[in-house]
Amino acid sequence: MALMRLLATLCLCLTPALLAQQPIEYSSARKTWLIHTDSSAYALGVNPRGELVNLYWGGPLWRADDVPAANNGRELSSFDPAQSLLNEEYVGWGGTRYFEPSVKITRADHGRDLVLHYASHTIDGDNLKIVLKDVKDDIFVNLNYKVFPHEGIIRKSALLENRSKEALNVESLQAGVWYVPHGTGYRLSYVSGRWAAESQLSREPIHAGIKVLESKKGHTSHNFNPWFAVDDGSATEDSGRVWFGALGWSGNWRISVEQTAYDQVRVTGGLNTFDFGYLLKPGESLESPPFYGGYSTDGFGGMSRRMHRFELTDILPHGLQARPRPVLYNSWEATTFAVDEPGQRALAERAAKLGVELFVMDDGWFGKRNNDRAGLGDWTVNPQKFPNGLEPLIKYVNSLGMDFGLWVEPEMVNPDSDLYRAHPDWAMHSADRPRSELRNQLVLNMARNDVKEYIFGVLDKLATQYTIRYFKWDMNRPFAEPGWDEVDEPKEMWVQYVKNVYEIIDRLRAKHPNLEIESCSGGGGRIDLGILQRVDEVWTSDNTEAFDRLGIQYGFSQMYAPKIMSAWVTDVPNMNRRSTPLKFRFLVAMQGALGIGANLNKWTADDSKLATDMVAYYKKIRITVQEGNLYRLLSPQVGEVTANEYVAQEGNQAVVFAFLHSQQYGLTPPPVRLAGLDPKATYKVETLGQAGAQELSGAYLMQSGIPVRLAGDYDSTAVLLERQR
Ligand code: DGJ
Repeated sequence: MALMRLLATLCLCLTPALLAQQPIEYSSARKTWLIHTDSSAYALGVNPRGELVNLYWGGPLWRADDVPAANNGRELSSFDPAQSLLNEEYVGWGGTRYFEPSVKITRADHGRDLVLHYASHTIDGDNLKIVLKDVKDDIFVNLNYKVFPHEGIIRKSALLENRSKEALNVESLQAGVWYVPHGTGYRLSYVSGRWAAESQLSREPIHAGIKVLESKKGHTSHNFNPWFAVDDGSATEDSGRVWFGALGWSGNWRISVEQTAYDQVRVTGGLNTFDFGYLLKPGESLESPPFYGGYSTDGFGGMSRRMHRFELTDILPHGLQARPRPVLYNSWEATTFAVDEPGQRALAERAAKLGVELFVMDDGWFGKRNNDRAGLGDWTVNPQKFPNGLEPLIKYVNSLGMDFGLWVEPEMVNPDSDLYRAHPDWAMHSADRPRSELRNQLVLNMARNDVKEYIFGVLDKLATQYTIRYFKWDMNRPFAEPGWDEVDEPKEMWVQYVKNVYEIIDRLRAKHPNLEIESCSGGGGRIDLGILQRVDEVWTSDNTEAFDRLGIQYGFSQMYAPKIMSAWVTDVPNMNRRSTPLKFRFLVAMQGALGIGANLNKWTADDSKLATDMVAYYKKIRITVQEGNLYRLLSPQVGEVTANEYVAQEGNQAVVFAFLHSQQYGLTPPPVRLAGLDPKATYKVETLGQAGAQELSGAYLMQSGIPVRLAGDYDSTAVLLERQR
């Protein structure tokens, strides 16, 4: 009896939301699935015709019974068939479908019609697999969903299986489609750019028609980054509804945002269809890249914080167990190709005194690499520059208390190299046609297994022979002449190349568990959730000019976590012939994974003193910066002042960075209102370089703000908040 009473009490106490613990609920009566995360829900259903239909994507739902069964839609006219009005979850190309297909094939008999109907499904914890099958042939698509309930993210991908007796030519394979609720008036946010000007944020209305974000260059590319955000037209940094998604793929990708004539907004993403081809033989399968999606009611800031957290917990190698990013020194801007043992030792000695923890020797240490015209591909230590190999330098760096990192560019070859002379066929080319060089280099066809094994061997040997903690993996040009004469379908190269690069990194990491990798492609040319599953940080941009960096970092932070964002302090004048104060440069770079890339031999005693203090300050706040919650308080796209706040996960610390471009008419900027604090708590507030501290409540700091007292040109400050009670 007592037990019954206890059970009854427990049932009364549990709200329906708490009872809905399963991340994936299925109703066999209505043939619907309801997927839950803490901050969103996603619903699917099978209609009477057998088509899989998206029924909902938005805020959390707790009552599966609310989700209506999927219907067949209705034919508006003979020109507007029922399929046009349906939100089909994974769209074949067949029947009366006239929009972006999720998959497109041609059979050996030239038949192209592919009509996918529900076949079966399985639910396993956070994973849902829905199997679709062509209405006639044994061609299957497995839609794989994984739910990350606490992070508010759903991952979808599609596996195309050819169980028929004929080979299929695959012309398109997408991860799937995301639909926002029917309607118009939506806006699209995305980043675009170019070398040294990556991640420029744009926000624009979605009009009828189709907008394509993509890379056709072989790598992720500087021009667009594979993510989108659609908002209801009025979202701001801290409020409003935002639906967002990001692809995990480092090759040719495509995201199309289509406002149809039926007031749908369809976002389709996966492998770029441009020059895509894949021969799928009987018994073979091909998987699309994963497409991650989420929903925020707290605006673009909420979107970013959700994605940052998700990257830290579920994307990056070692997740939350990974160490904080160390303070790094990189030799590139100081020496370019002129590296040698005495020069690197001198820089290492100075770097160690500043508090640097990881010393990275960049380009120039191998082969006949004295400039960018020769040596790429010859991964043996240059004997003139390092007569005793790398060992003495590495030992010296380690003796100074720093780890050692090394630059490599494994996917490339200079025609003036021993590697090219031995294997000209390894470079991408079309038979009997000229090859296009960029930066005097060609791209190795990494899709070839012999090339993959060779490159793995080179890197494995380096990591085995030397105490290398970190590779900076560079890639300094896009593809050209993507020919591959030895295979039936040369277009497969686009996909196989990426898979092989991933495989090399995965094998290297498995064999050398302490090894860390930075993804660089002439700056930010290879940043995406696919490479981020395999690397610890990325080189954000070759543009290290601090004021430009504010804009680049603003765009970067929309989707990617500060911990991933490598940012160096370099010398001035820099890009734009601009000279900003050293403090400004430090505070800009301290908003990510701090590095120094200056010629330390030229620094004055005052520069070194300031740098030592800044590095020490950074170490006090870096967990908050790298793993905390980011609030973009003032955007560099709007006014003269940029301000960002980072709040520690536990809420015990926060740090605010503020930057002034140029003061006008003697006015000082108004106080900056903070965010993400506990209104009831009090905080000790200390401004960098100023004596004394104030105690202020979270309520006051968020309602009234803190004065930042910036003046002149390129002034900057940091304010540290420690929670008192
Ligand atoms: C491009 C990178 O982005 C730079 O940081 C540097 O590593 C050079 N390549 C070296 O060639």
